[in-house]
Amino acid sequence: MLATLRRLPYEGAMRGDSFPRPSLERSHMARRNKIYEGKAKILYEGPEPGTIVQYFKDDATAFNAQKKDVIEGKGVLNNRLSEFFMTGLNQIGVPTHFIRRLNMREQLVRACEIIPLEIIVRNFAAGSMSKRLGIEEGTQLPRPIVEYCFKNDELGDPLVTEEHIAAFGWASQQDMDDILSLALRVNDYMSGLMYGVGIKLIDFKIEIGRVYENDYPRLIVADEISPDSCRLWDIETGQKLDKDVFRRDLGSLTDAYSEVARRLGVIPKTANVIKPTLIN
Ligand SMILES: Nc1ncnc2c1ncn2[C@@H]1O[C@H](COP(=O)(O)OP(=O)(O)OP(=O)(O)O)[C@@H](O)[C@H]1O
Ligand SMILES: [Mg+2]
Repeated sequence: MLATLRRLPYEGAMRGDSFPRPSLERSHMARRNKIYEGKAKILYEGPEPGTIVQYFKDDATAFNAQKKDVIEGKGVLNNRLSEFFMTGLNQIGVPTHFIRRLNMREQLVRACEIIPLEIIVRNFAAGSMSKRLGIEEGTQLPRPIVEYCFKNDELGDPLVTEEHIAAFGWASQQDMDDILSLALRVNDYMSGLMYGVGIKLIDFKIEIGRVYENDYPRLIVADEISPDSCRLWDIETGQKLDKDVFRRDLGSLTDAYSEVARRLGVIPKTANVIKPTLIN
């Protein structure tokens, strides 16, 4: 009975491959529910419990959304780059939410309880740290420095200490040990990867979420890792290849992100900016 009900009009034709078959994901997309729309991504309910579809938008925002624009192709590049970094992390045993990419703008990820912190790792001074402490941008730090910000747009994601995190119960001491270890492993992986293609990893931000495996909680890297959330400088020229290009009006953001993707082999060496198609 179910099989009859589920039969699709194009099923017979699929056997002969006489015309393109709509993918399962595409047919699912039509009836899925939106869970959340943020500044850079939309989350939809995934096809199975415990999964989410992450859709990467072209919207760029900076300075807590005071500066906004639509940068054609950014979402496509970030989807591919985040897939690339998270796949590599999964392969070296750093757990992430990434399951698989679905299409040019979407990936399937594990749903998790996001710890309400932005975890920032800095190798060289830049941005708010340079301002706060009066250190010239680009100065190498004595060692990687990990900072925590409370994820709250209304408050502008303020910097907090481990005292705040413990007192307000945002994460336990065990969580904080795991977060630090994950953040430093991501830093080593990303720094090495970037160094290999002539790019300095100045700093980056990650989000971490909790998943339950047989009722046992585990922390994994979530959200995205992309030039939106990293500072990347060319080693030779110091050229910025990250969201600062947008923040500081330094040129084409997609040219910068494409350059990173090309160097990493994520898009072909000869490719220009990925042009999204109408359906993606
Ligand atoms: N695996 C996941 N499970 C659940 N939520 C996730 C997961 N990965 C990312 N998220 C959340 O999805 C949202 C992604 O959307 P986006 O990055 O556009 O948000 P945003 O506007 O930057 O707002 P926020 O300040 O919450 O990050 C974020 O709130 C992020 O915390
Ligand atoms: Mg975000």
